[in-house]
Amino acid sequence: MPKGIRDKYQEQGVEGYYLDHGAGYENPHFAQIEQLLLQNEKRIDYRKVLDLSCGSGEVSVVLQELGFSETEACDPYTQEAYQARLGKSCYSWSFEDIVKGVLGSEYSAVICSFAMHLCPEDLLFSLTYQLFQHTELLVIITPHKRPELEKLEGVTLVFEDYALTPKGKKVRLKAYQSTFTPH
Ligand SMILES: C[S@@+](CC[C@H](N)C(=O)[O-])C[C@H]1O[C@@H](n2cnc3c(N)ncnc32)[C@H](O)[C@@H]1O
Repeated sequence: MPKGIRDKYQEQGVEGYYLDHGAGYENPHFAQIEQLLLQNEKRIDYRKVLDLSCGSGEVSVVLQELGFSETEACDPYTQEAYQARLGKSCYSWSFEDIVKGVLGSEYSAVICSFAMHLCPEDLLFSLTYQLFQHTELLVIITPHKRPELEKLEGVTLVFEDYALTPKGKKVRLKAYQSTFTPH
């Protein structure tokens, strides 16, 4: 039986896993990501998105198909896969870099798909706080319960949606705004 990604994270650590496999990364749930982004086109401003922890550009590809060309993306381990799929580069920023203040632009939305649960729990508030200094809408796409950003002080869940995998598992889209000091 093939090993699940969770077992692999446990064996190698998240960093070790993506250092080994980042260049060939592809998400088997691309169809649900695409469905969720299409379903929510009217509610999310896609004009200048940051595709955070972009992998091989699952979110960026859909936005490109929808005609949005100003998407930026970042991931510490998958630049090669992103370049191969999108034909353009992404930044190497990690969650830790963002917490340290690396972001310099404003984004119409930040979308983090299948990745924010990888942010260490003790960095989650600082990461979210930093992201809201650069966007009004933070969107996560996740097959997990975590992270529950609505539990953070100053963060409000404004809408959510889901798509079902062929096995009937929910992939959720959750959109957040902040009541932190306006930027
Ligand atoms: C399951 S993949 C999701 C990729 C893509 N967004 C998607 O929807 O398929 C998780 C991503 O998190 C990235 N990642 C791992 N550790 C990270 C960190 N410390 N900071 C930012 N991204 C990280 C990995 O490189 C990987 O691309």
